[in-house]
Amino acid sequence: MIGRIRNLEDYTVAYRTSVNEPEAFWAQQAESFYWRKKWDKVLDWDFEDYNVNWFKGGKLNITENCLDRHLLERGDKTAIIWEPNDPKEPNRTFTYKELHSEVCKFANVLQNNGVVKGDRVCIYMPMVPELTIAVLACARIGAIHSVIFAGFSASSLSSRVQDAEAKIVLTSDGAYRGAKTLDLKPIVDEALEFSDSVEKVLVLQRTQAEINMQEGRDLWWHEELAKADDQNAAVETDSEDPLFILYTSGSTGKPKGVVHTTGGYMVYTWYSFLNVFQYEENDVYWCTADIGWITGHSYIVYGPLLAGATSLMFEGVPTYPDAGRFWRICDKYQVNIFYTAPTAIRALMAYGLEHVELYDLKSLRVLGTVGEPINSEAWHWYHDHIGKNKCPIVDTWWQTETGGIMISPMAGITPTKPTYATLPLPGIQPVLLDSEGKEIEGKGVEGNLCIKFPWPSMIRTTYGDHERCKQTYFSTYKGYYFTGDGCKRDEDGYYRILGRVDDVINVSGHRLGTAEIENAINLHSAVVESAVVGYPHEIKGQGIYAYVICDGDMVEASDLEDIKKEVIATVNKAIGPIAKPDKVQIVRGLPKTRSGKIMRRILRKIAEGDTNNLGDTSTLLDPSIVESIKEGAQ
Ligand code: WTA
Repeated sequence: MIGRIRNLEDYTVAYRTSVNEPEAFWAQQAESFYWRKKWDKVLDWDFEDYNVNWFKGGKLNITENCLDRHLLERGDKTAIIWEPNDPKEPNRTFTYKELHSEVCKFANVLQNNGVVKGDRVCIYMPMVPELTIAVLACARIGAIHSVIFAGFSASSLSSRVQDAEAKIVLTSDGAYRGAKTLDLKPIVDEALEFSDSVEKVLVLQRTQAEINMQEGRDLWWHEELAKADDQNAAVETDSEDPLFILYTSGSTGKPKGVVHTTGGYMVYTWYSFLNVFQYEENDVYWCTADIGWITGHSYIVYGPLLAGATSLMFEGVPTYPDAGRFWRICDKYQVNIFYTAPTAIRALMAYGLEHVELYDLKSLRVLGTVGEPINSEAWHWYHDHIGKNKCPIVDTWWQTETGGIMISPMAGITPTKPTYATLPLPGIQPVLLDSEGKEIEGKGVEGNLCIKFPWPSMIRTTYGDHERCKQTYFSTYKGYYFTGDGCKRDEDGYYRILGRVDDVINVSGHRLGTAEIENAINLHSAVVESAVVGYPHEIKGQGIYAYVICDGDMVEASDLEDIKKEVIATVNKAIGPIAKPDKVQIVRGLPKTRSGKIMRRILRKIAEGDTNNLGDTSTLLDPSIVESIKEGAQ
């Protein structure tokens, strides 16, 4: 059965086949694509000494499958609709033919500037069509794109550019975000001060802000484009050649570059897009994510274009010019499938129904969520007021590392249950493990979510450091991919994600490592040590609570309020606004065990306001610290 699942029976059959005969199952799906040469072997794998190959030996170019393949049948169909930040600015649309020609042109621009197969291209841009074009142009010439969310600071950008040893950076003068105009190019300039690998910077004009162009390094996008031809023969890649790097936070150290390769990623993003959303040929599909995150990669760019869909891209924010913007856009383009994050739903819920009731929303057929657990209240609001009780909600669980949706209902097919991601997609074999690493069988159980068999779009390595990939994902439980999430399997066999079990915080659907935020806080000269935990936040899902020890010699009691503000500003500068602590508490010490380990469990409880139930504190070096922290809690 290629591609489509139409009912529960199809799902059951597809699932069973995918487990019993995974290679035959995925080979069949892969037949949908244009391969210059078929693969030698569907799968070989080793979860002990981690190594996975899908469709190895297969030769292809993913953009031939996203674009060229559609030209005959869908050349004049709209591929991309772009809605600008300012609703008064004209929108832009690209048919498949037009997108193909723009991608070819930009591929030529990259090649004219010396970019060749295997080179890394860092992209730091707003949500404009040129971003999608740039991503695809990299893929067309076999260069590895690394998109960096344009909300990251110069220092975050710099460390990513350096880690990837990028040859070229693509950016714009600035960006519009709601009522704000942001400068991007100066951030790139600052980030590149310490980079030796970057030879050129291509700059798109978006805000017309005055910027510096560095002689010999910086080039204007439009000038380069004017010199480029619109024909470009796609470069042949192997299935297992890297397609992109995307940096993501983990529980330790600096963000790691998750590497995805070409063939398996292509097959899986297409397959999951079709089935989860039950996409139909003339649907208008809108995913509100930013292409700086994995959701944008897999479900704005690759999945939809591989399926020949019309994918809407939005430059702005949900609350500009008012909190009805999403719904106005849904009506304007008659959106059929709408995919967003729980944090956006909660934020819009708080603005009240008057912003929803102005719109008809009749075109909507399927709703989706991603990025964090959705609470029951938000689920019902979304279902009742946006979906008008008739649109199934697909609560899709997955990760940057998984490349595509792993556990989710198939829209309108799998009976849904609020707050449950429900059942695994075909090809995905989840298991729950206990702390000893034993599989927990049966129903009505909880454990650590692992996957026991490879799937085509899984992470291949962490860029430049394969050992770290093995350590992070394949060492906690031998022979399994460990997700870092806790999970419940209920009486119906449905999965419900309970949240991270490691030191990762999920703020508004953005993943942040506590160590990363602590390192940023510690950059402040008056800070001696800090500890960061997540706590429940009504809109963001989780908020960031920072406990900070200051150097007594440097800080007067009267300065404490200023210090808190400076700590927040320091994080903003080091990582970006998404990582700013919501609460900062200055403490005289942290609850440490005799071996010097911070007992985060206690800090989490205090941050949650659950101070009566701190559990055993007897192993602490100085239990009185806990009392003093409790007194100062916010
Ligand atoms: C969380 C985003 C509950 C989870 C695609 C995971 C979710 C992390 C859901 C990955 C969901 C994602 N329900 N939790 N539907 N989707 N998560 O890498 O903790 O940015 O491990 O990928 O987000 O975040 P990432």
